[in-house]
Amino acid sequence: MQNRTTIRVNGRDINVDAVPDTPLLWVLREQLALTGTKFGCGASQCGACTVLVNGEPVRSCVTPLAAVAAQSVQTIEGVQTGADARIARALHAAWVAHGVPQCGYCQSGMLMSAVALLTGNSNPTDAEIDAAFTGHICRCGSYQRLRAAVHTAARELR
Ligand code: FES
Ligand code: FES
Repeated sequence: MQNRTTIRVNGRDINVDAVPDTPLLWVLREQLALTGTKFGCGASQCGACTVLVNGEPVRSCVTPLAAVAAQSVQTIEGVQTGADARIARALHAAWVAHGVPQCGYCQSGMLMSAVALLTGNSNPTDAEIDAAFTGHICRCGSYQRLRAAVHTAARELR
């Protein structure tokens, strides 16, 4: 039996054949080959799998496909050409300038939360930045550089 669900991914409507409780992460990675979104813990504990659904960060490892039917999903692959392109490009430049990534594994999830933060807040405080990254684990300890890079991107965008 076929299970078809339409989701909008990076601006394109895509009809997916998967059982409704398939985690969105596996649809993105296995069916759509969008491997920029990473698997870390699979239990909503690390943030590596974060994507935006209707502009809000969600953990795709624990988000069933059925929950995003007809919703707009944005992944790291589409963020520099989507509605948040200006913010994403400023963040990218700041990430490079501050040398934020080390191994890089956590970074696509971090960037998606950073895009959501700056979309709703053009001048976040340290506390607001820390709150936005709650639940994002970086084993390489990029937190201080990440915070500085968000401030730099926000300044560039103002
Ligand atoms: S893989 Fe989803 S939160 Fe860790
Ligand atoms: S840069 Fe390595 S886990 Fe974050």
